Amino acid sequence: MIDTILPDRVVFREAFGDEPEAVLFAEETALVTHAVDKRRREFTTGRHCARAALALLGFPPAPILKGERGAPVWPPGVVGSITHCAGYRAAAVSVDVLSIGIDAEPALPLPDGILETISLPGERDMLTRLGGGQPWDRLLFSAKESVYKAWFPLARRRLDFADARIGIDPDGGFTARLLVPGPHVGEAELRGFTGRWLVADGLLMTAVTVPGH
Ligand SMILES: CC(C)(COP(=O)(O)OP(=O)(O)OC[C@H]1O[C@@H](n2cnc3c(N)ncnc32)[C@H](O)[C@@H]1OP(=O)(O)O)[C@@H](O)C(=O)NCCC(=O)NCCS
Repeated sequence: MIDTILPDRVVFREAFGDEPEAVLFAEETALVTHAVDKRRREFTTGRHCARAALALLGFPPAPILKGERGAPVWPPGVVGSITHCAGYRAAAVSVDVLSIGIDAEPALPLPDGILETISLPGERDMLTRLGGGQPWDRLLFSAKESVYKAWFPLARRRLDFADARIGIDPDGGFTARLLVPGPHVGEAELRGFTGRWLVADGLLMTAVTVPGH
């Protein structure tokens, strides 16, 4: 499903529940020893999806540890992203792009009170203009989560919800303009991101990739 919003150079694996054959390496089990069962299950299936996606690129099974601020540690030369929500888990990886961020959410409006904390006034005006038809507020949130996951491995610092302005294209795309200095990608400062979104089967997903050239 998520492949419809990922470029060809990115491979993925997704699951619509927890897979019984999913297992963790001991080093990974240690990361969720004190976690509740729900968290252990989503973490395990997320790692399982990540290993399956890495296998498509020829990488043998190996632990995927947690790095700085929770970002997954990929094999050298690989970039990737993991997401999980009720009824869905996915991982996307590539050796041909500079960064990836993916996010999945239930395709439902945000709970009361969240939109104000995650959006800029201009973004709320955009949601009003978009009208009905989709849970645009949840899509805005998901786009920001994907942007953060793609931003972090490049910048290695936090990006707050007010630090990027999202523009949603109702036809399936979105942009993110950085309102803070961006990381340098080669010679150039990264000033923003582009991504795609999808709503289907009760799920909402967003994906951001930073191309190499
Ligand atoms: C990290 C964060 C983006 C995760 O998103 P989420 O919707 O809560 O949860 P998801 O299931 O979609 O994603 C969780 C996965 O994100 C990945 N992740 C966590 N921290 C990360 C980071 N710093 N960089 C990249 N990926 C990260 C992990 O793989 C994690 O799964 P795992 O712990 O099982 O490996 C979110 O919790 C967060 O901290 N958001 C605040 C920052 C932000 O969004 N800013 C907006 C900027 S415009």
